[in-house]
Amino acid sequence: MRIAFVGKGGSGKTTLSALFSRHLARSGAPVLAVDGDINQHLAEALGPTEVSAPPLGEHLTSIKDYLRGTNPRIASPEAMIKTTPPGRGSRLLRPLGDDELHARHVGRAGGVPLMATGEFDESDLGVACYHSKLGAVELYLGHLVDGPGEYVVVDMTAGADAFASGLFTRFDITFLVAEPTRKGVSVYRQYRDHAERFGIRVAVVGNKVTCEDDLLFLKEQVGDDLLTHLVQSPWIRAAEQGRTEPGPDALASLEPHNLHALRVLRETVDSHVRDWDRLHRHAVEFHLRNARAWGDARTGEDLAAQVDPGYVPGPAGLT
Ligand SMILES: Nc1ncnc2c1ncn2[C@@H]1O[C@H](COP(=O)(O)OP(=O)(O)OP(=O)(O)O)[C@@H](O)[C@H]1O
Ligand SMILES: [Mg+2]
Repeated sequence: MRIAFVGKGGSGKTTLSALFSRHLARSGAPVLAVDGDINQHLAEALGPTEVSAPPLGEHLTSIKDYLRGTNPRIASPEAMIKTTPPGRGSRLLRPLGDDELHARHVGRAGGVPLMATGEFDESDLGVACYHSKLGAVELYLGHLVDGPGEYVVVDMTAGADAFASGLFTRFDITFLVAEPTRKGVSVYRQYRDHAERFGIRVAVVGNKVTCEDDLLFLKEQVGDDLLTHLVQSPWIRAAEQGRTEPGPDALASLEPHNLHALRVLRETVDSHVRDWDRLHRHAVEFHLRNARAWGDARTGEDLAAQVDPGYVPGPAGLT
């Protein structure tokens, strides 16, 4: 299952991505945390870095070359854009699988396997690399064959940027983190309207709730989309100040209310049924859009021809 955390800047996306990943890891479930933000803070939120690994964005060409495999519809890594869908011959990935991409790019922080898209650096100023780095996660998810009980948790960029590409359609469920403020819920409205058009599931997770009025405000503004909420947390503040013990067991001392919220998130994910056809349909749709908008011109190819009509999405493609 792929889970995205989105929301306004500072709402708590990184904090909740880290807490949820640690919560899953602590139960022994296979989980990969992905820092999909160009401001890379997820490692820090997870805990001490145990293994560092280069971000995906640093090796985009070799990743493309690996993923295209022997797919005859993709002539070169240069012809592959972030939305290029897999077809027959493409290499598909299993979460944390035994392959060169995971071997090179998965690090570890706070006991949780971690992968990152890559930082925005000087050389990216004013050029398209900004989006191509985020595109690395889109490519990764596009080629991932994951199943129930496997979790990929992605900490996304702030605000509406998260749906500036087709990336927002690559998830089973999107948790929108909202503080009980007007600005906090305004991102929710934007996201909801966008997601509805694509039948994407968005659930709101209230955060930093301090009193009954906060909760009433969220209920009023968000209605049934409000899944659960976390309260303002001295535990999180202490962690931020480096005052909590590292390691998976530290989570045991998180406030009971917040632990309960993490359980609700997991139950919500676990009750979700993957729809491979929907995922693939959106992958193709966004690929064609990107091809028309800039991809064909950039690569000098007809990228619509990369869509393999005979490709069966999902586990069938692994054999
Ligand atoms: N429930 C909470 N209780 C107390 N502090 C919290 C809570 N949730 C988040 N915070 C604090 O709020 C601040 C912002 O959180 P965080 O960095 O997770 O937000 P973000 O949405 O990832 O921000 P950005 O948009 O910059 O990536 C951090 O200092 C974090 O420790
Ligand atoms: Mg963040």
